Amino acid sequence: MMPSVKEVLLSSEDIKEKVREIGERITEDYRGQRLLLVGILRGAVVFLSDLMRHLQLPCEIDFMEVSSYGADTTSSGVVRILKDLQEDITGRHVLIVEDIIDTGLTLSYLRRSLLARKPASLEICALLSKPSRRKIDLDVKYVGFEVPDEFVVGYGIDFAGAYRNLSDIHALKPEGGRQPSLPTFLSED
Ligand code: IMP
Ligand code: MG
Repeated sequence: MMPSVKEVLLSSEDIKEKVREIGERITEDYRGQRLLLVGILRGAVVFLSDLMRHLQLPCEIDFMEVSSYGADTTSSGVVRILKDLQEDITGRHVLIVEDIIDTGLTLSYLRRSLLARKPASLEICALLSKPSRRKIDLDVKYVGFEVPDEFVVGYGIDFAGAYRNLSDIHALKPEGGRQPSLPTFLSED
């Protein structure tokens, strides 16, 4: 029996179908152009690697890693760039690829910071979005699934660094209001 803390929200089949669909839309929208996918480390790695194989376009990839500042400054949406792009994006068509958008503050900041580098275009593609959590208006061109306000893991998305390798996306159910401990969540009895 699966532990109570682990519930499949989106199966690998659901995800596969959706990723293919988004890939086709992007292929249509960027026809005749060269695209630079910017994956946000580390959660977007699995999504990006599947998505890029559905793009019938000349396409390159690059990565950024960001982290939020402490709790007192998160409301300002200021993020620290831990790893910057290697490519110069001036004049390029750039598509940010993200795993999940929660408050939207991280991507809103990132978007502004990348716009200052004068790309030809800049759009956002997120596999998941939690619209009920949004604190800022953010224009997201491609969204895979809207999910409820629950903590999710799998398909690249982690809890304390774990569960990125799960093929399905699961909701982590808190036990008695607490986050489940890692070994409890992993055990199957
Ligand atoms: P935002 O700035 O609040 O939109 O933060 C988005 C980031 O928070 C995502 O890129 C994830 O790294 C993380 N995050 C938000 N919700 C979840 C979740 O349910 N599971 C795992 N990480 C999450
Ligand atoms: Mg992230």
